Amino acid sequence: MERLDKIISNRAGISRKDAKLAISSGKVSVNGKIIRNSDLKIGENDEIFFGSNKISEKAHLYIVLNKPKGYISATEDTQQKTVLELVPPELFRNGMFPAGRLDKNTTGLMIITDDGDFAHRILSPRKHVPKKYAVTLDIPVTDEMREGFEKGIMLSDGICKTAKLIKTGDFTCDVTISEGRYHQIKRMFGCFKAEVVELHRLSMGGFSLPEDLLPGECRELTEEELKSVESRVSD
Ligand code: URA
Repeated sequence: MERLDKIISNRAGISRKDAKLAISSGKVSVNGKIIRNSDLKIGENDEIFFGSNKISEKAHLYIVLNKPKGYISATEDTQQKTVLELVPPELFRNGMFPAGRLDKNTTGLMIITDDGDFAHRILSPRKHVPKKYAVTLDIPVTDEMREGFEKGIMLSDGICKTAKLIKTGDFTCDVTISEGRYHQIKRMFGCFKAEVVELHRLSMGGFSLPEDLLPGECRELTEEELKSVESRVSD
């Protein structure tokens, strides 16, 4: 059993003081009744609404976002727009963060969660969760790139694990890596004097970006989708 103000503050990402204010001003209902008492103890089956948004009771939330260009993978920033700004209030929780960063102009699949253990499992290079990207280069894709990726590219921070490159057009290819180093794909192509002009994450583990999710949209992952993220882990 948790206090109502604590749940509102936590789930809606507002301070405890603002949560109390929202409750006393009649913005919160529990099981269909407006409640103005912040100390009310909430049980598992109580249904809470903050305005018109249902507040989830789940231990952790897992959200899939189709990241658009122009958003940084941070939880807050004074100058730039962050991916968390795209999460609607009913899906927002304090402590949420992107599980796996994408550069500001990289698009596609991003998972946002408040579950640190899950993030660690899918990001740790030891766990080999494959991340697949669609890449567009400024020069044609070559066999030399494919072979180099297969052998392991040497970057300034060490040799990369083997990566798979499949050519999809003269200037385009899909690349699968199982690490997530800073600017990794751009730096790997940099070794071949190629510049990445478009980068889009297609999948993580066995989970692909849902086709109906438009850029900037997000939704909660189903349990099955969540499992599929880790389904191709080989430790
Ligand atoms: N590699 C990059 O260079 N950038 C990304 O955003 C993701 C992988």
